[in-house]
This record gives sequence, C-alpha cells and structure tokens, in this order.
Amino acid sequence: MSQLSMFKDTQVFLPSKKFSAAANLNKQKYKILQKKAEEDYVKFWAELATEHITWHKQFTKTLNENSHPFFQWFEDGKLNVSYNCLDRHLKNTPHKTAIIFESDSGQIETYTYKELHAKVCKFANGLKSLGARCGDRVIIYLPHSAEAIIAMQACARIGVIHSVVFAGFSARALGDRIIDAKAKIIITADEQRRGGKILPLKNEVNAALELIGKATTVEHVIVQRKTGGETWLVHGRDLWWHDLIRDQKDICSSVWVTSEHPLFILYTSGSTGVPKGVVHASGGYLLGAVMSMKWVFDYKPDDVFWCTADVGWITGHTYVCYGPLAVGATIIIYEGVLTYPTPNRFWEIIERNQVSVFYTAPTAIRTLMKLGAELPNKFDLSSLRLLGSVGEPINPKAWLWFYEVVGKKQCPIVDTWWQTETGCAMLSTIPGVNQLKPGSCNFPVPGIIADIIDEAGNALDNTATGYLVIKKPFPSQIRTIWNNPGRYINSYFPQSIGCGKYYVAGDSAYKDEDGYFWILGRIDDVLNVSGHRLGTMEIESALAANSILAEAAVVGKPHEIKGESVFAFVVCKGGNTRPVGDEARRLEQELKDWVAGRIGSIAKPDEIKFVDNLPKTRSGKIMRRLLRSIVRNEEITQDVSTLENFTILEQLKN
Ligand code: PRX
Repeated sequence: MSQLSMFKDTQVFLPSKKFSAAANLNKQKYKILQKKAEEDYVKFWAELATEHITWHKQFTKTLNENSHPFFQWFEDGKLNVSYNCLDRHLKNTPHKTAIIFESDSGQIETYTYKELHAKVCKFANGLKSLGARCGDRVIIYLPHSAEAIIAMQACARIGVIHSVVFAGFSARALGDRIIDAKAKIIITADEQRRGGKILPLKNEVNAALELIGKATTVEHVIVQRKTGGETWLVHGRDLWWHDLIRDQKDICSSVWVTSEHPLFILYTSGSTGVPKGVVHASGGYLLGAVMSMKWVFDYKPDDVFWCTADVGWITGHTYVCYGPLAVGATIIIYEGVLTYPTPNRFWEIIERNQVSVFYTAPTAIRTLMKLGAELPNKFDLSSLRLLGSVGEPINPKAWLWFYEVVGKKQCPIVDTWWQTETGCAMLSTIPGVNQLKPGSCNFPVPGIIADIIDEAGNALDNTATGYLVIKKPFPSQIRTIWNNPGRYINSYFPQSIGCGKYYVAGDSAYKDEDGYFWILGRIDDVLNVSGHRLGTMEIESALAANSILAEAAVVGKPHEIKGESVFAFVVCKGGNTRPVGDEARRLEQELKDWVAGRIGSIAKPDEIKFVDNLPKTRSGKIMRRLLRSIVRNEEITQDVSTLENFTILEQLKN
C-alpha cells in the first residue's frame, strides 16, 4: 500500500462551518450542478457560457461532437478574451486594483482595471503599428511581471496568438519555439532580476535569432527596459517598448474572434525530444478559467488572489493572467524567488497585501516547511481564507503543515489536478462542499466526466490503479498540437489506451473506497521537477549532442523538496573510457552547464553518472525501468532475461 493510501484512511478534514456558509457552492448547489452535467453536459456548458462570458455574437452551436477528437465549442460565437478580462469591469469597478506587482528588489506598482486597460490598449496599438494582425504569432519572453500580462492581454485584444516562453529557457529552446510558431514579433526585456542576480534576456533573444539565421520569420523585437543594462539592438528590427507606446492611443477596439480562434500556444514536454505546442481556443478556455475561479477558488470580489506560478507556465496563464482578471479580481504578481532577500518574503507579501487566496506548488510548500514554522508564525496571516496546491502530488506531511501552520486549520486546501492541456483545474476539492483528504485531488469538478480505466477502456473499480481519462469533451481542453495534429491524436487519444475514445491524461491514478481520486504519477517519460514538466528525451538529446558523449539515459529520482530530480547515466565516446575522480567531476559540471545552455537551468541534471554502457535489450532498447529502480535503490524485481549486457548491472548499481 502506498504512503498516500495508508494516510488517507486515518485523516479527513471538514471545511469550517463559516467557510461553507459563505462558499459560492454549497452541497445543494453542487449537487444540482452535478446532476445537470450528468443529464446533459452539452446543455450544462452552454448555459454557463451564456451566463458567465460576454459574447459579441451569441453562439447557437455548443459542441460539434462529430469532429472527435478535434472538438469545437461555441464555434459560431464571437468574443474577445481581453474584453472579457478588462472592458467588462470598466463600468462598475474601474478603480478597483487589478494588479499589485512586487519586483525582486521590492518596488511595488499597482494598476487599477482602468489603468491596466489603457496600458493594454496602448501596447496593442503598438503591436498593430508593427504590422501584427489577427492570427499572427508573437513570442513573449519576459520575466513574471505586469508587462508580461499587458503583452498577453494586448495580443488577445487584437486576435494575435501569443506563445509565452518561460524566461529561464535558453536561447536554443527559445529558437526552437520561434521556428515552430513562425513568430513575427518577440517581446522581451533587456535583463531580468531574480534573487538579486541579473540574468540576460535580450542577449538570449539575439543568440536565438542568430541560431535561426536566415530561416527567421521575426520582423521585430520589442524590448522593455528593466535593468538598464547594456543591450544590443539591431537597427530596423529591434525597438524599445517605451518608444513603441509613446504616441499610441489608450483606446484600442477589441477584435471579435470566433470562439475557436486560438488564444495561445504554450509549449510543454512530451515523451519525445521535441516540445509540443499546446493550442488553446478562446471561448472554451475562458469559460474553464472563469468557472474554476468561482467554484474551485470560491472567488469573492474582495479577495486578494495570489497564484505564485510564473506566467511562463500554464498555471500562470490561467490563474494569473486570464481567470482572475476575467472575474475582476485583485491579483499579486511577485517577480522573485521565495527566499530572497530573506526567507520571510512570502509571509511578508501575504501580510502586507492581506492575501486571502494563496495558490502554490508542493515544492514551494516543502521549501517553506523546511525553513521552519517560526517564520510564518511571526506574521499575521489571518487574511488567508483558502489555500491551493498544484503541479505534483502533495505529500501528506507538507499538506498538514500547509493546513496547520499557514492556514491555522481555518482554510480549506484545494488540491487541483490539471495540465497544460486541460487549461484549468479538472479534479479538485470544492471548498465548502467536500471533505479534505490530504494528498487526494478529490473529485472531478462539475461538468468534467473523469474516470480510471484499464488499457482496453473498461472502467476500473475503486482502489484499482489504472489510466486517468476524461470521458467527455470539455470546453477548456487542448484543441491540437501546433503544426502536428497527428501527434495530438497519438498523445491524447491513443488507440492503445481506451481505443482512442477518451482524453488520456498520461497519469496513473486510482479512486479510493469513497471515490476520491489519487494521482500516482506519469505513465510516460515525463519528469515532474518542482512541478515543472520535463521530457527525459529532451534532456537525453541535449546530452547526446555534446561531442564527448556517445549516449545518455535520463530518469527521475525522488527528491525531498523538488518531488523528482534529474539523474543522467552517460556513456563517453570511445567505449570503456569512463572518467574518474577530478576528471569526472569536471566533466559532470561541464555537462550540467551544457544542458542548461541547450534547454535552461531547470533541466540541469542533479546527478550524472559515467558508465561504460547502458542496460539494453537485445533489440537495443534502453531499459529505463531498470535504471529507475537503480536510482531509487530498489531491489531489481523486473525481468532482466532480455538484458543484453548483464554484467553492466553491477557497475550501474555502484
Ligand atoms: O502529472 C500531473 C502533474 O502535473 C502534470 C501536468 O503538468 P503541467 O502540464 O506542467 O501542468 C502543471 C500545472 C497544472 C500532470 O499530468 N500534476 C498536476 N497537478 C497535480 C499533479 N499531480 C498530482 N497532483 C496534482 N494536484
């Protein structure tokens, strides 16, 4: 029995009566929603879309199921996502604070909805003046900042499809995304500050464009001056953000796009070496973001909502940029790292801003927990009313610490399971309704028909482990993989699991005796490091591109803080020339830096082991499962009879 399942039998927590009484969904409303969704999920979503989204042209068709698995929602409706996030609040709450931005070095800027609207309009006009048109792709390579939100909203306003690339990715990774998206414009900053350090951004863009060379589609690079560090601009191509907007009007009409118009592409890791450009459509994505703000985060107009995710990841898209603004919330954006300049930083931000909803990742919770309860205990955290966790399974110890020390046993924790591809929370506690089981993501949110199946597609009984699937289409789901519809089908509707009928999430999971969902981990070669997805193949191909290496195999190793760490087995060229001692240490550092340069620091292997050979089957397939057991110090129980080079096992284990 897993640690989680042993734990679940012993502890459950009920939301406080006070919380439940004020919650957006109580048991009765929740049951009504569930029933409606079960009876007719298409009508269910149609009613919500009509009530919660401002349409320029009301849709008449809700779902085109015949186009399986390329579903279309509200396809003849027209809307604008930025209009829904900004303009619709201008009448009633123009002076409400939309964004409280805190920089790494502690400067604070606030923007009301009216001010944000004006800034977005000016920037959107600037984009238009550079020739950006509806359907063009723009890459945003900015730090987590108000400007990143302004840039995303400006794109949405004029129907431009943005693709945010996490500012920690390397020039090469950026270049690959620029090529795949055929981006016309890049929006970046001179440099970024993180944890007191200054890191280049524009220079990375320059390097990416140099790598691409003549194949470039990029016409302009817009550069925000952030640090004032020395920056090289290419005449005619590059321009400063402040120059671009100087003479622009602060009004820019929204471009009304069809509901299926792509809002953004976000690249994520899969089981091959090439990242997938996940495409989200405007109307369905927005609806998912809005409903989950109301149901999962129990949004109230006086909330101060802090989702700590960087805008470079899906969580930053849905619960920083789109969901909170669409419901008219006040959000916090903090640029820096959680322990800089002191380990009190997070608690100071919560106390100073009276944060009421705090949504973060288990890695952050475990880091904060390690720093000790004395730190949060020194601060007044009584403004908190709801806590949330996302990105990876949360271990019960961290869950309890979050609940007791941060939430003082007063705040429900919503453990939200979802993915870049699902757009918004799919499985989650509905606070005020469900009891909480530490480590479980609870149940599917209303309208999401999820289940656990076996390979043939049969629903499994409670307690049996299988594949997590979503059986019916839902509005916020991925529409396709940019440039690669075939990969979309193979990745999410594979014939091998459920005969292509269901959305296959790529996670294994089970339901307990009470039907609560428990996520066990990925079924593919995807690692989850600090809540971020990394493909083992991506790291392996980065390593293999180094001239000293013949081949590499990467596996995940359990890590106390990060959840999983990257462990690489590498073989040098020339056979049986494994470096040792100082030479091995030097090469290990060189290879780590090499991976950081190819992908980004987040993908740096934590450990590299030089070996003479990798364990392979006679047909040449690397036996990764074996390597996983080795790094976990587990006894090797799998069949090794097909292993070609049996003697290598001893060397791998030592
Ligand atoms: O394995 C699941 C894990 O993160 C994967 C999705 O990663 P990504 O697309 O980067 O999105 C992360 C943020 C939404 C899932 O396939 N995961 C996400 N949330 C949870 C989780 N695992 C367990 N519990 C969660 N709450």
